[in-house]
Amino acid sequence: MIKMEKINKTYGTGSSRVEAIKEIDLEIKENEFVGLIGPSGSGKSTLMNIIGCLDMPTSGDYFFEGEKVQGFSSNQLAEIRNRKIGFVFQNFNLLPYATTFENVELPMIFKGASSRARRAKVMELLERVNLAARAHHRPSELSGGEMQRVAIARALTNDPRLILADEPTGNLDTKSGQEILRIFEELWSQGHTLVIITHNPYIADCARRVVKLRDGLVEEDSARM
Ligand SMILES: Nc1ncnc2c1ncn2[C@@H]1O[C@H](COP(=O)(O)OP(=O)(O)OP(=O)(O)O)[C@@H](O)[C@H]1O
Ligand SMILES: [Mg+2]
Repeated sequence: MIKMEKINKTYGTGSSRVEAIKEIDLEIKENEFVGLIGPSGSGKSTLMNIIGCLDMPTSGDYFFEGEKVQGFSSNQLAEIRNRKIGFVFQNFNLLPYATTFENVELPMIFKGASSRARRAKVMELLERVNLAARAHHRPSELSGGEMQRVAIARALTNDPRLILADEPTGNLDTKSGQEILRIFEELWSQGHTLVIITHNPYIADCARRVVKLRDGLVEEDSARM
């Protein structure tokens, strides 16, 4: 599904230059469940932003489903993100004044789906994350775990093959974190490919493959052991 060859990402210039990731070679196949771990500053988010076509490497080659991503226009990159990738973040990124229903519906409005199609899809997704009963609540009326489930439902509106999550349980208590993990396991069993950055040992244990970064390098990759 994705393949990286000698990927580097450098931020800044001169004395403020940071080599966030260095010469990374990484291949992730369809329906893998990858945990991305490593200390703070090791380059996890940088790597994920490149995987998610949110940012470009400074050098090296990145292939998404066999296509070389460099040289794509920003519209083409947006197209890949919108059609193939679902993003989940630590701080949920929900619209505070919109209900659960509206937060999940929003990406489909941008896509131009009919209101009837949107309604059916939103309700199906809310059932899937067990939140149908919270459809008309706003984020301030939800627990952290519920907010993250809204965010996951929103990430699934485009039926993404690849789901990227950056510390999805970082702001959650253990029990809510485990509910989120259960949803990820279910998505994995349904054939999605998952890449999850995490400090959560439960998630790292459940991932079928663990890639550990240190100082911008792959220090360990359980797939290569
Ligand atoms: N936009 C940026 N401009 C300059 N330096 C950056 C930028 N983003 C990240 N960095 C630097 O790149 C390095 C890797 O950062 P990155 O965010 O990828 O780490 P991380 O592994 O995700 O850390 P954390 O666990 O704290 O989220 C760090 O030294 C960071 O300071
Ligand atoms: Mg990070």
